[in-house]
Order: sequence, then C-alpha cells, then structure tokens
Amino acid sequence: MEGIIVHGGAWAIPDRMVEAHLEGCRAAAEEGGRILEGGGTAMDAVEAAVRVMEEDSTFDAGRGSFLNREGVIEMDAIIMDGSVLKAGSVAAVRNILHPVTLARKVMEHTDHVMLVGEGANIFAAEVGIEATPEEELLVGRELERWKVLRQDPKFRARVIFEPPRSTHSWDTPGDTVGAAALDMNGDMAAATSTGGTPKKRMGRVGDSPLVGAGAYADNLTGAVSATGWGEPIILSCLSRRVLEFIERGMAPSAAAGAALGEMLDRHEGRGGVILVAPDGTMTADFNTPRMAYAVWRPGGEGVMALIDEPTRPRLATR
Ligand code: GLY
Repeated sequence: MEGIIVHGGAWAIPDRMVEAHLEGCRAAAEEGGRILEGGGTAMDAVEAAVRVMEEDSTFDAGRGSFLNREGVIEMDAIIMDGSVLKAGSVAAVRNILHPVTLARKVMEHTDHVMLVGEGANIFAAEVGIEATPEEELLVGRELERWKVLRQDPKFRARVIFEPPRSTHSWDTPGDTVGAAALDMNGDMAAATSTGGTPKKRMGRVGDSPLVGAGAYADNLTGAVSATGWGEPIILSCLSRRVLEFIERGMAPSAAAGAALGEMLDRHEGRGGVILVAPDGTMTADFNTPRMAYAVWRPGGEGVMALIDEPTRPRLATR
C-alpha cells in the first residue's frame, strides 16, 4: 500500500518550536499523499513534500537555511529513485529556493550524480530554474543567530543535536528536511534537503547530498532519508547502513535502531532516520532529544505528526 513519511529534523527541538515543526511536517506529508493518492510516483511525492518544507522558514532548508561562517547561505540536497537506482544531488548551492528540484534535474538531465557550487548554479540557469535573491531565503531569526554565533568561538554544531535541550541564545535552529515514499506501482524514492549546520565553513558539504549518507532508495529493500549531525552521518553511511541491516534480515524498526546505535557508539553521532519498506511499513527513529516527522497513508487514516522524546520504538506503522 502506498504511503509517505517526512521529517523536519532530529535535534533538540525546543518546546516553542514544536507546533511549527508539526504543522510543517503535516503539510508536507499531505502534499506528498495527495500526489500518491492521485496515482503519482514516489519521486513526484518526495519532491513535492520536500518543496513544501523548503518553502517553510521553520526548517533549515531552502527559505530559513542557516548562514555559514561568512554569512552566506549554501544548501545541499539529494533525490534518489529506487526503481532505477539513480540519484541526483547538489551541494553548496546558493540562491535556489528548491534545491531538491535542482537535484532531480541533475539526475534527469545530466550524465552526473552531483553538481556543486557555481557549477550547480550555472546548470540551474540552463534548466530554467530562476535564481532566488539571498534576501528571500534569509530569515531574521538566522541573521540574528549568525550575529550571536560569530562572537562565540566555542560554538560547535554538534551541541544542537545533543541532550539536554539547550537553553542558550542560539537554541532555535531548525534542521534538515526529507521524505521517503512508496507509490501504487511499488516504486520507492527518497529525498533530503538542508542548509547544513550553523556557522559551517564556506564549502562545507554535509551528509544530505551524499548517496548512502543523506538518503538512499532501492525498490528491493526500502527508501531512507537521514537527518542530524552531518559528519558522523557521512562516516557511518547512515541511510545505506539501515538498508544493509534489513538485507541481513532485521525488521525495519530494528534496522533503523541498529544503524543509529552504531553511529552513536562508533562516531558519537546523533541524528534520525525515516524509512519506507517495500511492504509499506513506515518507520522513524532517532537518538537526538526530539525529531519532527509525519506519516500519510491512504484510507482515511490521514496524517499523523509526531515529536516524541526518545522511548523506543518510535514508530512502525503499516
Ligand atoms: N544533516 C545536515 C548537515 O549536517 O548538513
């Protein structure tokens, strides 16, 4: 049975940001669900769901992205089609409201998997994606955060993913968004989009645009999107690792927990994953204080949107 699960980041989401995260996830899952219900593809559904969250300044993706150390927005995104095992991605791209759509164009209109920086922007112009002025991507919240963080030499991105939930002046960053879907034909897709981590170096690329780290989709095993602290997610190939555990015979929820547990043990990494299995089981798991996610499936069940504290199992729904 078709379905879609979306996330709006795994991190120490403060109480006052909970409602906005739930609303944003709910809207994205509904949009993806509308497409699946109409017979649309998993690729169309995940792209549309991620676009909703890139538009929503609640999240660190598209509008609302963090500023890097130099005060510039650089974004990363990926989309992967599990029916053909093809992916497209962009990294360190500027002035693009919907990096996920640009990533899809890379997959569909080039011989490449990934384009970065200026090359990605040149390609965007070639395929008719208009540049968005940085002022339209930048929100006041992030400008204020950048002003605070640039005075704070001790700030490290990892703290925003760790317990206890922060009470510092910079405690309201959003995080990466993503989606994983299964369509009526049994095809699967995953997508992830992010502005990265606050105060990152110019040119820093996180996990999100990397195949197997920020996302992976394979009709045989499942579709995964990851979120959280990018460097450990890269080192543990988190999304692909979840599917490896499934290939070894684990249930999806156990596989997600095992991959996250391994990332914490071996890399001190914190984050979360969402996952759709070929039988339609949808799972979310995380080892951060909170994670925002929502699920849509047909049949009147509607959309569930959740942020829970870490008590396993998070969610395994069919
Ligand atoms: N997970 C987002 C990043 O670290 O870039």
